[in-house]
Amino acid sequence: MAPSGPMPRRKQSRKGSMADVPKDLLQEIKRLEDLFTVDTAKLKAIVEHFISELAKGLSKEGGSIPMNPTWCMGFPTGNETGTFLALDMGGTNLRVCEINLPEEKGEFDIIQSKYRMPEELKTGTADELWGYIADCLQQFIEYHHEGEKLDKLPLGFTFSYPATQEYIDHGVLQRWTKGFDIEGVEGKDVVPPFEAALEERGVPIKLTALINDTTGTLIASSYTDSEMKIGCIFGTGCNAAYMEHFGEVPKLAHMKVDPQQEIAINCEWGAFDNEHKILPRTQYDVIIDKDSPRPGQQSFEKMVAGLYLGELFRLVLLDLHEQPHVKIFEGQDVSALKKPYSLDASFLSDIENDPYENLQETHDTFNAKLNIKCTKPELELIRRLAELIGTRSARLSACGVAAICKKKGYKTAHVGADGSVFNKYPHFKARGAQALKEILDWDQGRDGKPLGRGNDPVEILPAEDGSGVGAALIAALTLKRVQEGNVMGIRDPEGMLKGMKASDPKSKQVAPEVK
Ligand code: GLC
Repeated sequence: MAPSGPMPRRKQSRKGSMADVPKDLLQEIKRLEDLFTVDTAKLKAIVEHFISELAKGLSKEGGSIPMNPTWCMGFPTGNETGTFLALDMGGTNLRVCEINLPEEKGEFDIIQSKYRMPEELKTGTADELWGYIADCLQQFIEYHHEGEKLDKLPLGFTFSYPATQEYIDHGVLQRWTKGFDIEGVEGKDVVPPFEAALEERGVPIKLTALINDTTGTLIASSYTDSEMKIGCIFGTGCNAAYMEHFGEVPKLAHMKVDPQQEIAINCEWGAFDNEHKILPRTQYDVIIDKDSPRPGQQSFEKMVAGLYLGELFRLVLLDLHEQPHVKIFEGQDVSALKKPYSLDASFLSDIENDPYENLQETHDTFNAKLNIKCTKPELELIRRLAELIGTRSARLSACGVAAICKKKGYKTAHVGADGSVFNKYPHFKARGAQALKEILDWDQGRDGKPLGRGNDPVEILPAEDGSGVGAALIAALTLKRVQEGNVMGIRDPEGMLKGMKASDPKSKQVAPEVK
């Protein structure tokens, strides 16, 4: 009898077959498999080196991985309240949010606007950048608070680039990442010019905390799930933050803080293995690095992050086409394929998502985007290459997570993750979970249950909105500390409270009071 009721849904999968693929292409596929596959032993070796590099970054002498202390000291309790602004300067968009943290534990309300980041801004001048951001904030406030007389609103600014922070409301940009290249910002504190642009326009905002997206992700995720121990971004860039004890941070020993006190560390692990000691770089990774605005930097990021996946794929295909012994795209005009950074990670996602045995969608995409008409064997190679690049990214990314877990001795943990690659790239989560299993030698799940979603000892899960709620929470935690007189890592505690509702006890407006 046919089963009644809804049938369990199975995700469409594609068997694929290499039966028709000629020998030369099969050989190339094999070569690419060898180049891009990272086996268990290599993963483990990478993790061991990663652990020592994390520790080195915390040491006095320092290492490649910056391990930046963020002055966000500890997790939220869930009882934070008040109204805060959050600003997120991402690669493509600028997002402004107003977040209300109500009395109810772990809840929040949010209103937000998104503004396009004009592409020219990424390589323009610093004045243009800060001016544009201040204009967006002004527009947001005028729109949402028309005619109101406002006290200064506290702002958490998510600035997702490596910055050394002597204070939470301060940040010296170490170097631009993710394709940004604005002159005169590297090596300088980004806060004063940002505040000056606000001041010039009379925008009633006080920057309370400068935040990395990973720290925001960590804090936002732990607000709703106390098992969250690490915040990760797998997107245009790749990075993580976690809570460390002062006792484990020799480079802060001079501050003589209680060794048990926690502080969030923004790892900036994109810089892992800048010395090229362990990562299995291919000739294509070398080209990406050489042709990037900052050669020699962000070595790990350049192998795993969304910004580079499409470019890697393009470089491999172009190289194959140019090899006389490999017959690929013969007689076709490959000029579109010659344009650097013309393919993004979503191009690869689409290929990996093509459910058809004959890869019709991939065929059409190549035709539409690159003006190349692929044969069936070429399509098989293309699909395999996308799988290899996507799989390598997920497996190497998992090495960072495993390294933090091992360093901290976490046998179980939740990891909050965000970013376009994590959220949209097919199989990224499953491939990452598989790599964790291999690295950490699991044979069973939590409480002896079978391994799998919900039971894996360490799980990478979709995070809460780090650059919105996370930024608001960090602003809240910071104000609370200042109000309580705990001013460690705060540049100008009095200045921070000045003009804010909370600093005037007689104010009738709801204060951004933090319990
Ligand atoms: C880059 C940035 C880092 C950020 C990451 C994810 O690695 O340097 O600060 O967290 O991208 O956006």
